[in-house]
Amino acid sequence: MEKGFVDLHTHILPGVDDGARNLEETIRMLRIAYQEGIRTVIATPHFVAGAKNVPVDRLRLLCDQVQQEAQKIDPNMRILLGNEIYYSESVLEALQLGTALSLAGSRYVLIEFYPKETFKNIFQGLGGLVRAGYLPILAHMERYQCLYKKEDSVIELINLGCYLQMNSNSLIGSILDTEAKYHRKLVAQGLIHFLGSDCHDDKERIPSMLKAKLQLQKKCEEDLLNRIFYEHPFKVLENTYI
Ligand SMILES: [Fe+2]
Repeated sequence: MEKGFVDLHTHILPGVDDGARNLEETIRMLRIAYQEGIRTVIATPHFVAGAKNVPVDRLRLLCDQVQQEAQKIDPNMRILLGNEIYYSESVLEALQLGTALSLAGSRYVLIEFYPKETFKNIFQGLGGLVRAGYLPILAHMERYQCLYKKEDSVIELINLGCYLQMNSNSLIGSILDTEAKYHRKLVAQGLIHFLGSDCHDDKERIPSMLKAKLQLQKKCEEDLLNRIFYEHPFKVLENTYI
């Protein structure tokens, strides 16, 4: 099978969150993803404990429907299911009950926090998940103020047993774009395990991967890029440790 990118952070299911508004938009996003070289998409609709979340049965139905559309583009394209889980204390229970979903049935869970959350709370929240046997992936790690230019804290999370996902778009920018430059530095240092598009639509927040890879190629070893773009996401799909 053709080796393609895995996009493990997407809002591509139609009409369930602030992502694709309908199936037509989903299909346009799938076409963009295909052109970007993405062959496996994990749909990660938002899950917020206590909020009115779309039931898992419905998500599975939609995922199957999107899978059928993807196969019309390429028979090898796969659409899998997960959630982007907004952290709260009841997240563990929701995961155990199956109302919140891990990534593609693995032990890996995509977790987000309020961007101004304290490091202590992020550390404690993710630590609880690790102790319960999950492998938490911190979604768009570049968004948290407590981690910005704090590599020691980033390393503390990694040592805790967490993985870090960065949005591919956060890497795009000229040398004058100090944030993008800093994000590229974090990747080059080997502190980022996954890139995801966090796509929401077919115009502004698209399922992109190629531009990020091109920018990183100038700065990163081939081995490192292989791990980020292929090895690590495949470990998620195989439910094995990184
Ligand atoms: Fe997201």
